[in-house]
Amino acid sequence: MNIGTFDSGLGGLLITKSLIEAMPEYNFCYLGDTLHVPYGARSKEVVYTFTKNCIEYLFEKKDCKLIIIACNTATFAALRKLQQTYLPQKYPDRRILGVIVPTVEEVIGKKYNSVGLLATHGTVNSDVYGIELKKRNPDIKLYSRSAPLLVPLVENNADEFAMPIIESYVKQFANTDIEAIILGCTHYPHYKTQIATATEKILGRKIDIISQDEFLSVSLKNYLLRHPEIDKDLSKDSKYVFEITDINDAYISQAKAIFGNDNIVVQKVDI
Ligand code: DGL
Repeated sequence: MNIGTFDSGLGGLLITKSLIEAMPEYNFCYLGDTLHVPYGARSKEVVYTFTKNCIEYLFEKKDCKLIIIACNTATFAALRKLQQTYLPQKYPDRRILGVIVPTVEEVIGKKYNSVGLLATHGTVNSDVYGIELKKRNPDIKLYSRSAPLLVPLVENNADEFAMPIIESYVKQFANTDIEAIILGCTHYPHYKTQIATATEKILGRKIDIISQDEFLSVSLKNYLLRHPEIDKDLSKDSKYVFEITDINDAYISQAKAIFGNDNIVVQKVDI
């Protein structure tokens, strides 16, 4: 059986790439919902429905034992409900994981007192990061800002327009005492270097960038060590499949650019 990774669009490819690099023996099936991207400003109900349909496809058609929702917006909108109602009824022996708790644990492990968050409108408005951080450290300060325009820049291969937009988002952290910025959207690691440069310029000091592609593989490996009953059903033939729900030449070339490999084959699926 396979490990599924799912995102609203192409951003989750960065996380999938980091998982494949860290665990190349496993089989991965990526699904990007390019037909419906962006999820970030949609209602929670709509994001839940889109996410559930994609998850169902990965379970039913792609033989996934375990799915990582590699999208913060879909994680906040759908993960708990899928785990509590959908899985027990339909697939009690399969699992769905998200990206928010591992990110919060990474931040808590670094013992920061004050952090910034860049994420979609949906994730920021839900305050899911604030809630999860304060459960573990009630004194931590969180400054949350939405950065929605970075998503279409990534999806449309428009990197040359990114820097002024990134700077205007980072300016919102001026006059704060943040020690790190959480990239709380799977599209944003694409601009990790630019965000670090802009932050140093605007805040006048270097701060840490918390980027999900750098630690999610560690969380996944630890999860599989703690859950041998899941790991034993996962195939280890190094097969990787990449699918999206809408396709055109631009999506194909952008997927190659994000994944950093010209050989990646991306196919369209109807869901
Ligand atoms: N990549 C998604 C996330 O991590 C959201 C991007 C979007 O579809 O708006 O939140």
